Amino acid sequence: MSAANVSRNGNGTGDDVILLSETLFQDITARVSTGAATPPCNASEPQPRPSDLSFTLNGKAVSLPLPTSRISLAEFLRETLHLTGTKLSCEEGGCGACTVLVQTTPSSPFKPVNACLRDIRSCHNQAVVTAEGISQVQAYLQEALADGNGSQCGFCSPGMVASMAALLNNNAKHKKSITKKDVELAISGNICRCTGYRPILDTFEKLVEVHNGHAGAHVCDIEDLAAMKCTSKKAPPLSNNEWVAPTTVDEAVAALREVNPSIAVGGCTGLVGVAKYYSMTASTLPTPRRLVDVQHIEELERIELNQSDLSIGAAVTLEDFHNALIEHTSASAAFTSCANHLLRVATPQVRAVATIAGNVFLTAAYPKFPSDVCLILLSLRATACVIDIATGVMHVETIADLLSRGESASMQVLCVSFSIPLNAKGSDEGAYFIGKIAPRHWNAHAIVNGAVSLPMGALPPSISFGGLVIGYMRCIATENVLRTTKSRSDLNNPALLNAALEALATDLASDAVSDDNRRMALALFYRAYLRALPDGALSPNLATAAKPPVDSRSASAGSVNFEGVTDPTELPISAPHTKLSARLQTSGKAVYGDDEPFPSQGLHAALVLSTEANAAIAAIDTSISCRTEGFCAFYDASELKRRGFKNDVGGGEPLFAEDRIAFHGQPLGIVVSTSRSLAQAAASLVQVSYSDVRKPILTFDDAEAARSYFDVPPTASTIKVGDAEAALAHADIVCQGEVELGGQYHFYMETQNATAVPSEGGQLEVTCTTQGPANAQAALCQVLGKSSALVDVSVRRVGGAYGGKISRNVPVACAAAVAAECLGLPVKLQLDLTSNMRALGSRRPHKAKYAIGLDKSRRIVALKVDVAMLQGAFSDGSFGTPLDVLMGIDGAYNVENWHVRGQIARTNTPPNTYCRAPGFVPGSLIIESAVDAAARAAGMAPEDLRWLNRYTTTSVTPRGEVLKYCSIDKCWDALVAKAGDPKARRAKIEHFNSESRFCKRGLSMAPMRYALFWDGNDMRALVTLGIDGRACIEHSCVEAGQGLNVKVAAVCAASLGIHLDDVTIKKTTTRICSAGSSGTGGSITSENCSAAVEDACEILKARLQPYLTPERTFTEAIRAAMDDQVDLCARGRFLGKPNSLGPAQYQSYGAAMIEAEVDALTGESRIVSAELVIDTGISLNPTVDAGQVQGGFVMALGYLLTEQVEFDHSKNGANVKVGTWEYKPPTAFELPDSFDVTLLPHAPNKQGFLRSKATGEPPLLLGASALFAIKDAIVAMRGDDKPFDLPVPALPSTVHRLCDVDWKRDYTLS
Ligand SMILES: Cc1cc2nc3c(=O)[nH]c(=O)nc-3n(C[C@H](O)[C@H](O)[C@H](O)COP(=O)(O)OP(=O)(O)OC[C@H]3O[C@@H](n4cnc5c(N)ncnc54)[C@H](O)[C@@H]3O)c2cc1C
Ligand code: FES
Ligand code: FES
Repeated sequence: MSAANVSRNGNGTGDDVILLSETLFQDITARVSTGAATPPCNASEPQPRPSDLSFTLNGKAVSLPLPTSRISLAEFLRETLHLTGTKLSCEEGGCGACTVLVQTTPSSPFKPVNACLRDIRSCHNQAVVTAEGISQVQAYLQEALADGNGSQCGFCSPGMVASMAALLNNNAKHKKSITKKDVELAISGNICRCTGYRPILDTFEKLVEVHNGHAGAHVCDIEDLAAMKCTSKKAPPLSNNEWVAPTTVDEAVAALREVNPSIAVGGCTGLVGVAKYYSMTASTLPTPRRLVDVQHIEELERIELNQSDLSIGAAVTLEDFHNALIEHTSASAAFTSCANHLLRVATPQVRAVATIAGNVFLTAAYPKFPSDVCLILLSLRATACVIDIATGVMHVETIADLLSRGESASMQVLCVSFSIPLNAKGSDEGAYFIGKIAPRHWNAHAIVNGAVSLPMGALPPSISFGGLVIGYMRCIATENVLRTTKSRSDLNNPALLNAALEALATDLASDAVSDDNRRMALALFYRAYLRALPDGALSPNLATAAKPPVDSRSASAGSVNFEGVTDPTELPISAPHTKLSARLQTSGKAVYGDDEPFPSQGLHAALVLSTEANAAIAAIDTSISCRTEGFCAFYDASELKRRGFKNDVGGGEPLFAEDRIAFHGQPLGIVVSTSRSLAQAAASLVQVSYSDVRKPILTFDDAEAARSYFDVPPTASTIKVGDAEAALAHADIVCQGEVELGGQYHFYMETQNATAVPSEGGQLEVTCTTQGPANAQAALCQVLGKSSALVDVSVRRVGGAYGGKISRNVPVACAAAVAAECLGLPVKLQLDLTSNMRALGSRRPHKAKYAIGLDKSRRIVALKVDVAMLQGAFSDGSFGTPLDVLMGIDGAYNVENWHVRGQIARTNTPPNTYCRAPGFVPGSLIIESAVDAAARAAGMAPEDLRWLNRYTTTSVTPRGEVLKYCSIDKCWDALVAKAGDPKARRAKIEHFNSESRFCKRGLSMAPMRYALFWDGNDMRALVTLGIDGRACIEHSCVEAGQGLNVKVAAVCAASLGIHLDDVTIKKTTTRICSAGSSGTGGSITSENCSAAVEDACEILKARLQPYLTPERTFTEAIRAAMDDQVDLCARGRFLGKPNSLGPAQYQSYGAAMIEAEVDALTGESRIVSAELVIDTGISLNPTVDAGQVQGGFVMALGYLLTEQVEFDHSKNGANVKVGTWEYKPPTAFELPDSFDVTLLPHAPNKQGFLRSKATGEPPLLLGASALFAIKDAIVAMRGDDKPFDLPVPALPSTVHRLCDVDWKRDYTLS
């Protein structure tokens, strides 16, 4: 058996069959456990035996003994076969990083599937294609995404390609044209935190154009995947004690009865992806001993349209259910609405395999789960045909009865099918509407969902809501009011609407229903009622209330314009080169921390996190945990002390909590086991008891009440310029307000991980997800008590960072290192997403009270701000001095008198940290809130006040920065040229608003300023020239997707006069760039690192000078120099020096005009258009820079609109918005319908490196206009001038409340 056969090319596509024998399988499961990468392969083994699990992987047959417990497909691919192109991030179906293609039968299409959810036992007789397989046959998809700049950090890229491959291949098979909306939908289950999706959509849409026109010889030929298909020769059905895959219903019932308790399983998505969020209380049921896979039973997949019903097999997938409803829309007035609703259930990857029965039984088990599928079935009065497992008797029961069986439902019955009755002919002229209000449009469970069915006469109405109480709320009183309705025209009666609304309010009167949710349910009902009105009866101004424009929105579009920002004399610098590793990333070949080969004897770790926020640790009991399979060790604070380690990762933060817990989720210790899943299981079994449990300080109000603040010297927390108090006293208009700005989880797709490998003489090699290797090294040395000579830290790239890996990777690296040191063995710690979110903090929330004064000429004369920043339990060693927010509090405005006082709240929450544009994001939102309020008080369009008070080339900031090169005016003019005169835009919006009662639009236009600092920075680079004339760079910075390496390589190539392809960049290691070098952050790293490289190149050029003669090529000159023993390895450095124009090195400027739309009925908002202009100087790489602008802006949209960090007193102070189920970064749907980015032309930056400007963080500030456009729309809805402040995030519930819609007053028919 050659272990190397598969791993040789790492793609598992050698000619051999991958057949695992029993002993080999044991070896492999042990290796899955240890993470070792010995791929199984044995071509000489005989055919699979009964009960062998067989499937096709990238075109090759795989066979292995049927595992007795769950191994996810992702785990199998990554750990066993070392096919690391399949990435793991959320591990719960919410992000799409792990998407692979699965074909269930030889004739069915390849579907996108989450490898993290898929049990490999479900893959029997199927075909799986991973990134490695796509590389074999459809590499052009991967190349297109790379070349289209659709891959920044690259962690999402293989999953994106797989989703797109599924779309293209399916449509190639069906010879269908693909629309742009199809493309959007295809990637709706894939999160990308970096790119802002626009370049991904643009790339895929181009592929689609070729596909539709059949122009490209090599785009989406269905034959491409032919070699990857599953074989028509089926292996025998699977069966062991734990897993049976029957092919008939009788076999299934027998298998369920044989072992007690057993349950049927469909796509296995609910058990992993959903149950964990609802199974908060311990189940009283025994764990099922056997799972019966019903996917292979044809009868359960049947769909039949009969005279009186649509019969749907229990194992029909949600995707096929959707397709069936579309196919049979003429059979029921309800089907179109239901089909549209199904597209908002989960993701394409989940819908491809998740079954209807799975959803229903999941809801039975977890009645708090507001299932959309059950709501559909309930509202359509569907019934279920089930077989009692004990008796074998088949009977029909209602969905409500099925749900009332509770969590043991799937142990009691096997569901065979559902029957959806078709109403008697003629009576189906009624109306049906199902809708949901969710924190995000796609892939978000409902806050409230509702189905309103008004079948007029023949059948009684049916009105139900989910999300309000445990289970569904049937609104009987409302149904009774509507029961006598005979036709749609009966509804055109204001008295009936009033009566129905009053009845609904009575139905919803339960204390269990929150006010917000009650309002949302009433709104959904009102919408349904309006939609049901007869044609022509709907008042025109209510058309958008019945059907908001978002329902008929076409696919989003966008453009990037970077004409005039390049300098052809500096090529290859300034050219739009593709990122160096983009193709590696999109093909899954790029190596991230967890992809690095791991020594075979290596162990895996998991953190034990506290479940209290403010308590003493009474005892930590590992007696159960240490008896689990594979357990090796547990280390906590006391053990650290006993072994002489220092329990301090910096800023006074202990690595493991000592006596008192400071926050819920604080690491208490680390468990080491033979596999990651075993370590996680063992960690969950460590019993911690607490004493002296106190009420935690979680919020600003809590901190104020307890006076819990960090000590910050007034010099670092105050700005006092002029006399703000006096100026306010004399101002013509003074406005006061309060701004609340929440946190933002970084949501880097690659969760924090670290691998520590001890070696000879006490040396330790640590590979970790860090933005600051030198910082990590210093912390490791401190904790371990080791010399920096013994500790090396390295990082090749990180899968996103955004500031979250500057300091918050340190506890992870130190924990892995401590365990490795104690055991003398390699230890890997890869955090799961939930632990990552619980333990490591996020963007710092801020709360500010402001007073702004205007004089008669509408100059802002003074700003007084009291601002608090919520740091969490520890300082994290990263909050700036002075307080970060003071850097950005003036935004882009010239104000004479300032008085800002800041303080830092200390709370029982995880230590917060830098997050993309820290300080400046809250600073700009605070001043923009004040300016917006002042403009409204003065009766001015906010953009007019902004323009009047903008910074100009003669301005000086409150910190003394001279804005001699201010380009706000140029940006503003370019924006108006592009986006139009705001007055004209406003006139159009007013017209729209005048015709729309509840759906309102708003506009905001604002300038932007962002200060870039590099004083004191120390970046290093080592450039080595090889004998072949190629250059190799090792530098002190970290590629996190920002395009650092391509910029640096271009500078090196230009400097040495070689081709860009002749430059290689190695991974970053402290061996090269040790103590004192600066971390990657603050947007200026690419420039500083380029300068260090240029410095090294200059040294090399000087050394080569005597050899660079006209008759020699560059390579010959190198050879000649080498012959003369010239050192062709040079170290360059960039040392940031103070700037004569103030503390900042230079400023970035821009302007944005954004139009937003608010649906006042539901509180949902969206961005209709966003036009951005930003000054990037002479761009070092315009494609990279434009990508940063798009990505940064969309990250800001997430912060402002959908992402919420929330700690809950009733949950012991826990962060309740963890995981992809609760935390919602934008998907491609959240993009502006129209999204245009212009890089300001002809704007060389005299103070920047090679006249360039940084682009990583400034674009986030342009997002502020999105918030104020939404506020503008809310103002339009309210119709009064009562001031209000819009908090961040502007969630639907908040927007809905602020819109001040009163159902009694406003829900009318005209
Ligand atoms: C990321 C994500 C997002 C989601 N978003 C939504 C959403 O927005 N709205 C929504 O409604 N749902 C949502 N879901 C839930 C999803 O629809 C369910 O996970 C899915 O339908 C379950 O089907 P399954 O075949 O995978 O069930 P499984 O996980 O295989 O099984 C779930 C339960 O059903 C039982 N069961 C399965 N088949 C049968 C049968 N024939 N007879 C008896 N018992 C059976 C099993 O025993 C088990 O108890 C989401 C899920 C995920 C992972
Ligand atoms: S890792 Fe599988 S969906 Fe996120
Ligand atoms: S490129 Fe998509 S997450 Fe980084």
